Amino acid sequence: MIAEAQRGPYSEEEPSIRLEKLGRQQPAKRKPIVRYQSIHKSFGELEVINGIDLDIFSGEKIALIGPSGSGKTTLGRMLMTLEEPTSGSILIDDEPLWQMERKGKIVRANEKHLHRIRSKIGMVFQHFNLFPHMSVLKNVTLAPRSVLQLSKEEAEERAVEMLRKVGLEQKLHDFPAQLSGGQKQRVAIARALVMQPKVMVFDEVTSALDPELVGEVLTVIKDIAEDDDMAMLLITHEMEFAREVADRIVFGAEGRIVEQGTPEQLFENPQSDRLKSFLQRFL
Ligand SMILES: Nc1ncnc2c1ncn2[C@@H]1O[C@H](COP(=O)(O)OP(=O)(O)O)[C@@H](O)[C@H]1O
Ligand SMILES: [Mg+2]
Repeated sequence: MIAEAQRGPYSEEEPSIRLEKLGRQQPAKRKPIVRYQSIHKSFGELEVINGIDLDIFSGEKIALIGPSGSGKTTLGRMLMTLEEPTSGSILIDDEPLWQMERKGKIVRANEKHLHRIRSKIGMVFQHFNLFPHMSVLKNVTLAPRSVLQLSKEEAEERAVEMLRKVGLEQKLHDFPAQLSGGQKQRVAIARALVMQPKVMVFDEVTSALDPELVGEVLTVIKDIAEDDDMAMLLITHEMEFAREVADRIVFGAEGRIVEQGTPEQLFENPQSDRLKSFLQRFL
């Protein structure tokens, strides 16, 4: 009963309290870096997101779990501006992503606006989509060169640093075909990190990998999660990993958030039948 009373309705204080417990930055300095507000998304007749409100605090690590088809990828893709919400708004760093102001009116965002805001977000997908005809180094320097307009030297310096972070500094001049799936996924992670995003979205980045390669990729993500300032939205079926890395677990089903809380709350004391039966499958 006590656990239930303590949980109460989810409040904005909760993630900060947990961050403090972990000895991270003072909660007072934390602010929402992403705010999903009353988000709906339909594909034709199919309503995929049914009214989602979710704040992600700067530096917060959220694991988004839920059955296949529940709208997790769509939620991530909307941050990356790959899908547009049917209604509602998404704020990034206090600015609307999909709307902008022009001559005192709120209008639909243009490419320039989307581009500027999107640069704060990095995303890694299930399938890595590296350019096969480019070396590892070239894959990682491409966006810093073309988007950030860094010099070749600056871009390479940053890229090498990121490739070192994911343990691939020996592979700079290899081509994707010479790498294992786990190594390719680590290049994809370095490619997103090199843009220094404020939020990283990882969408089931290990589910296309052979089982023996999953560990090396999760280890790299855990290592990156040590960065206190970067927020993460981890869409995953790796429950042990979610428990270890996440400050907060969000469980979604059928386009809604069904339950959320600390890993302890959700994994040890799930409240809804939906979550209970979902977790059963991972035991
Ligand atoms: N571009 C699209 N066009 C039509 N339906 C889509 C599109 N993208 C996703 N869907 C549908 O939306 C639902 C949610 O998909 P998704 O966000 O990928 O769920 P999850 O990642 O939780 O498995 C699914 O029924 C999927 O088939
Ligand atoms: Mg998905």
